[in-house]
Amino acid sequence: MANQLAVKGGTPVRTKPFISWPIIGDEERKLLLEVYDSGVWAFGGPREAEFAKKFAEFCGAKEALCVTNGSISLELALRALGVGPGDEVIVPGLTWLATAWAAVQVGATPVFADIREVDWCIDPEDVRRKISPRTKAIIPVHLYNQCAEMDELVEIAKKHSLAIVEDCAHAHGSQWNGRGIGTIGNIGSFSFQQSKAMTAGEGGVLTTNDEALAQKIYGLKNCGRPWRDGKCGFGGNYRITELQAALLLPQLARFESQLKTKTESIARFREKMAKVPGVKLTPPKSKVTRQGLYGVSLNYDPDAFAGMTQDILVSALKAEGIPTQVPYSPVYLSPLWTPGRDLIRCEPGVKPEDRLGLKSKCPVTERVAQETGIVILHHIFLGPATDADEIAAAFEKVQANAGELRMDILQKKAKSAVRGILSKVGIGV
Ligand SMILES: Cc1ncc(COP(=O)(O)O)c(C=O)c1O
Repeated sequence: MANQLAVKGGTPVRTKPFISWPIIGDEERKLLLEVYDSGVWAFGGPREAEFAKKFAEFCGAKEALCVTNGSISLELALRALGVGPGDEVIVPGLTWLATAWAAVQVGATPVFADIREVDWCIDPEDVRRKISPRTKAIIPVHLYNQCAEMDELVEIAKKHSLAIVEDCAHAHGSQWNGRGIGTIGNIGSFSFQQSKAMTAGEGGVLTTNDEALAQKIYGLKNCGRPWRDGKCGFGGNYRITELQAALLLPQLARFESQLKTKTESIARFREKMAKVPGVKLTPPKSKVTRQGLYGVSLNYDPDAFAGMTQDILVSALKAEGIPTQVPYSPVYLSPLWTPGRDLIRCEPGVKPEDRLGLKSKCPVTERVAQETGIVILHHIFLGPATDADEIAAAFEKVQANAGELRMDILQKKAKSAVRGILSKVGIGV
């Protein structure tokens, strides 16, 4: 059969591997060697200063402060804003754990708000519902290829005197109404972890327009040392190294051209995908004047795919040569969010499960994360434009031939139903 699915023994749509990430050039090698030879590997060296200045300009922020990674940057942002024990921080249910972890780290309680299906970002309506007298901050996450609804969130924050920390780990280079993402809330937090659109393997940066906050963040990350002519603060060591900065400088220089390639390729992919029944890419927003791209998020209708579960769809696409993945788990349902419960210190009368928000319920987050969401990571779109056609062709093929997997789908559903019944009567399988 010409169109037989590759997972069933047919010919894959694509046999060549996609471009691998990160893309590195001679510039990184040259700068790394310069740093190596200089013997100045850390502690306020010239590369870090140069990168911080350029990154601030890139975002349109007054200040940028580099730190060890994008989890610590969130934690330090909350600390600088004075968020602590007894406070609540509203975070989206769909995000990487770090967004909520930062709240727990400072002794606060993360309160999970639902997302909107249209953009997978925090739903301002649910944020309004989740505000309590203890709420101190909101952390919207600009997820995959989207920006959170910043105008509405800023309005809510103003009305209730809340701080906003923007989690921009996925949104390097994005702009909202012409303003750099990470400069709209009080503080922006970026990650340079291996898979991110700009990477040093690990690393992070905070952006702010508020000099007093910059001063606090500097002390927090640099053992309390004073920022410029300021006073001593209080803090630990969360500094970045010169080696990381040497990797980041060329990546920042290369970013614009990579974003252009990805933007064009994803536009082409979007056009092709419009013809595939039952799948919708999350749509562009008019207020997003430039979208940084960490990935592409799309919702599919399992009924249009013979009832395919996400893992079966991901396996079928992988067999066609197209790497895709499921979105993050809802944080409060993640297996990574529970084992350390005994490590969580709580105020008297509060249980760790309450501090971790384990009883949260965000229906849209759960549907997208567990039933309808699929993610394609950004670097796949950095190859030739025709790659986008093959990715779309694989979706088209799997959708059109989904019936070939009907038995696998039924078997899987029957197995999970049996498992569900057995676990209800206390028998684990
Ligand atoms: C949305 C989001 N926030 C925060 C982080 C944390 O960044 P890092 O891995 O640099 O600690 C990540 C990274 O994985 C992320 O995806």
